[in-house]
Amino acid sequence: MKFPRTCAHRYMAILGAMMLVACGAMVDARAAASDSAAHIDVSGHVFRLDAAKVTYALGVNEKGQLQSIYWGPRLAPGDPLPAPVAPPGGDSINGAVDAVPQEYAGWGEGLYYEPDLKVTFPDGNRDLALRYLSHSVHGNMLSVVLKDIERPIVVTLQYEIDPGTGILRRSAVIENRTVTPVIVEQASAGTWFLPRSHDYTLRFLAGRWAAENSIYERPVQPGKTVLESRRGSTGMQNAPWFAIRRNDASETHGQVWFGALAWSGSWQIAIEQDQTEQIRVTGGFNPFDFGYKLAPGASLQTPSFYAGVTTGGMGEASRLLHRLELTRILPQAPHSRARPVLYNSWEATGFDVNEAGQTALAEKAASIGVERFVMDDGWFGARNSDKAGLGDWTVNPQKFPHGLKPLIDRVHALGMDFGIWVEPEMVNPDSDLYRAHPDWVLNMTGRPRTLGRNQMVLNLARPDVRAYVFGALDKLLSENQIAFLKWDYNRSWSEPGWPQVSPDQQKNVYVDFVSNVYGILEELRRKHPNVEIESCSSGGGRVDLGIMHLTDEVWPSDNTDAFDRLRIQDGFTQAYTPGVMMAWVTDSPSSMDGRSMSLEYRFLSAMQGSLGIGANLTKWTTQDVTTAQRLIADYKVVRETVQHGDLYRLVSPDSGSEHSATENVSPDKAHAVLFAFLHSSTEGYLYPTVRLQGLDADARYRVRVLQGTLAERTPTVASGAYWMNVGIDVVMRGDFQGAAIAFDRE
Ligand code: GLA
Repeated sequence: MKFPRTCAHRYMAILGAMMLVACGAMVDARAAASDSAAHIDVSGHVFRLDAAKVTYALGVNEKGQLQSIYWGPRLAPGDPLPAPVAPPGGDSINGAVDAVPQEYAGWGEGLYYEPDLKVTFPDGNRDLALRYLSHSVHGNMLSVVLKDIERPIVVTLQYEIDPGTGILRRSAVIENRTVTPVIVEQASAGTWFLPRSHDYTLRFLAGRWAAENSIYERPVQPGKTVLESRRGSTGMQNAPWFAIRRNDASETHGQVWFGALAWSGSWQIAIEQDQTEQIRVTGGFNPFDFGYKLAPGASLQTPSFYAGVTTGGMGEASRLLHRLELTRILPQAPHSRARPVLYNSWEATGFDVNEAGQTALAEKAASIGVERFVMDDGWFGARNSDKAGLGDWTVNPQKFPHGLKPLIDRVHALGMDFGIWVEPEMVNPDSDLYRAHPDWVLNMTGRPRTLGRNQMVLNLARPDVRAYVFGALDKLLSENQIAFLKWDYNRSWSEPGWPQVSPDQQKNVYVDFVSNVYGILEELRRKHPNVEIESCSSGGGRVDLGIMHLTDEVWPSDNTDAFDRLRIQDGFTQAYTPGVMMAWVTDSPSSMDGRSMSLEYRFLSAMQGSLGIGANLTKWTTQDVTTAQRLIADYKVVRETVQHGDLYRLVSPDSGSEHSATENVSPDKAHAVLFAFLHSSTEGYLYPTVRLQGLDADARYRVRVLQGTLAERTPTVASGAYWMNVGIDVVMRGDFQGAAIAFDRE
């Protein structure tokens, strides 16, 4: 059946007036997008989105199913995009529905692959068959409305294309227009399809506490790889990110499809090669233990799933995602503020914080050029260890007899702003809050309340708990001149029950908790617009594009060993920009591995991201102070390039070699900075020549050594072509050596 060339269609008759709302003025004509760099074309029942170097196309087949047509490098404007035709198929083994690359498949009609939506109705019906209803275009966003063939479960799919990167944002809004509640048992943002091929390798990130974001690769073969968190939060077991590359693609060349999920609760990305050899990538809420009760008239929006494609290899895939984060995701996008150099007290003082000790550290920190002083855990309630005090957000009177004001005033007088640690979603059983409200935590009636780090998770889904947490933070920020919150979250969920609501609503906690965390962050930011926030979760346990939308920076790992960090940072930057990647210089030998490294090496490792200092400054020698002053001053000169430029991972610390190198290039290519590291010299080999990337070949760049030694006869000025082809020789011998070289266009 051919679809009419207007929004009217066969379901109109069934749905009557309801449908009219969904029919926009957009008919067949090309819709000029608000941004000239992105285009959305609607031609009959085929939708085509173009931006940057990407084309994405989808369309409605003769059965009314919304079908994927193309996702890849940009096509020419007039290229024919055939109307999708549902592949023939369907036998006793595979249903006809399985052969269709449906953009958003309901679980029904004999679907055996990962569904996008699974719903149980009160009468026991669990069959859902979604068909096209209408569409509209607003600016860079195409919305396509689907509806079940019989029941008014209506799904609005959003496709928003970013003009700068061609990355698409997909999300689905599921509406229950029936007259009874339904249970949504699985809901994704959508499914992405890659061209049929045997030629794919999946790259993903996995890790644990102190070892986040290790890079893994495996061939895409029949079957399914599930990346996920079932922990209630993002977690470090997997990062909500994937990349699928052609087998011959490398860091610098070749085709890569990649994506990241914006959700800070339990999530899932399933990468599946089905029996018809289609590659499906489906991502959204984790379906494990999921069951969202949707009242009549209510709707549920899935997380956003961002994804892009490039022919420029893994490096370019990361750079595109970084650019999206800097220009679209972060709170201050498109003009993200550079991260100040901060000091954090945690590794120096632990819980033993007080006015005199913090003031002494602040004075030292200011003397080396620190711009923000952050007091970590231990300042509130009865918080002398991790066994007590969480939940009681009042200043500890023994440690701060005059409140926080004298310390904050001193920090300001020293020319820095002041930040403080909080962990608002948690409570210790040994706290006034828990004694007053033992029912405020996630729990299942009559069952033990399993502790993690001696604490429980407050049930933020409850409106009263949400109000308490917002009130406590709002008061803290209103009464004190605080510029920065380090927002921590130090355990995974257990017994995720919500006894105060009906059994069939209890699982709503997986969504409502996260929505309320986002709500609190939004409200705080609105009320205190100058406060910046870091997302920390025992290290990198809550890093995703959802939390990054509401926080200015993230903490990648509690492991601050400068050598380990090179590997962790290499994994982190697969998905996330160095502009949010906090990295501290801490003491040597490192508390993690007992490894000794020079202060210079520790600085250079941390300077690859957003520089912080976490060492016990009271123990530093005069020479340490001088080194720190010099390198912090240098960092301030290059930080704009490091944080907001393009990252080139020249040699990965994961490559098995004894050396690694990264290079950041400013967007206008006027500046670049190279960080090179040597793990350990072997057999007298020279440090390999480093060839730069991403410079303007015709421009001339002056070289400036921030740290290290260049080979004799290295020119001080040469063309971009020279630095990219001849390269630069750094002299490094020994163990744990580092160099940093800046390149400035003349
Ligand atoms: C977590 C964080 C650390 C520190 C401690 C404080 O482990 O990741 O950086 O803030 O909590 O208790």
